[in-house]
Amino acid sequence: MKAVAVLPGRPGSVHLAELPKPKVNDVPNGRGVLVKVLRVGVDGTDKEINAAEYGAAPPGYEFLVIGHEGFGLVEEVGEGVTEFQPGDYVVATVRRPGKSIYDVIGTNDMTTDDTYFERGINLLHGYLTEYYVDSADFMVKIPQGLKDVAVLLEPFTVVQKGVTQAYEIQRRLRVWHPRKAAVMGSGTIGLLAALVLRLRGIDVTVFSRSKKPNLNAGLIEKLGARYISTEERAINNGAAAEFGPFDLIFEATGASSVVFDSMQILGKNGVLVLSSVTGGDKRVEVPADKINLDFVLGNKVMVGTVNANREYFESGVRDMSQAVAQFPGWLEQLLTHPVKGLDNYQQLFEKLGGGGAIKVFMQVAPL
Ligand code: BGC
Ligand code: ZN
Repeated sequence: MKAVAVLPGRPGSVHLAELPKPKVNDVPNGRGVLVKVLRVGVDGTDKEINAAEYGAAPPGYEFLVIGHEGFGLVEEVGEGVTEFQPGDYVVATVRRPGKSIYDVIGTNDMTTDDTYFERGINLLHGYLTEYYVDSADFMVKIPQGLKDVAVLLEPFTVVQKGVTQAYEIQRRLRVWHPRKAAVMGSGTIGLLAALVLRLRGIDVTVFSRSKKPNLNAGLIEKLGARYISTEERAINNGAAAEFGPFDLIFEATGASSVVFDSMQILGKNGVLVLSSVTGGDKRVEVPADKINLDFVLGNKVMVGTVNANREYFESGVRDMSQAVAQFPGWLEQLLTHPVKGLDNYQQLFEKLGGGGAIKVFMQVAPL
């Protein structure tokens, strides 16, 4: 079968590779689930992997099959699988358990291991192929009513984790009723963060570069959130006084300097969630005394978040269901750039690099 792969370490090496079709029995104890791939989303991580900035091939392979945002249909299950049957829609998680105590208890997103295993990213093949097999332990069932948007579940889980962690951390306050939040960035993650916060009834202000009108700003406003272009108004130019205090800020711009702007507009007792993976070596000058003083005197907290374990895939399915009920048609509008058929893999990267895309995805087989 065909698979879209890269040669880690060689920039621009994306190509079609050939792999044997996997079998349910490749997974021990009858726990295998054979999945026919329907759609696979791509993101900045795939771009970095193809640019040879990131990613490693599985042991014994020269190439790495990419794709970590999968969605598919169960074709066959092993005799030890009770959770799924052929015909079910599923999404598989990305990171597989390592050795740390966090992995042992199922929170492999919190691993302290130096080497981690992520399908389509590091040391394990991904989902941009025709079929894959994995253990039922790493799959989540998708209700029929979500099949058109389920390819967004993996990026959604990154937001689920960030917001859940923020609430978890804020239990330190005994009582926390977040009323106002800011989201930095209106890319896929920023849009999904705004959605999750609006679903929780929070007043949301999104800061993003481009001026209105634009597609992303329109989507933000459809959620009943506010969109501020930072070309027209700098982040710390009175916005906190006008639209805050911000009890929660979700940073998803991909620009590390925005972290320091965010720190300066976080409200008292607030929580700042960082989700941008910034591989560069950018430096900025900041008012360090002022930032530190406000953090100390305001009992503020800042937390980084990456990846997601099964719990967040499950809560993601619930939030997606609520989103479909509350904002019908909204999630579909994020699916801006489809590419049809594995043979057209080059288009994935053209569209990723082209700008204006919210979600670029491969339609591997019809839904
Ligand atoms: C993926 C995460 C992953 C991270 C780091 C992101 O693009 O969505 O699941 O943990 O990259 O590899
Ligand atoms: Zn990703």
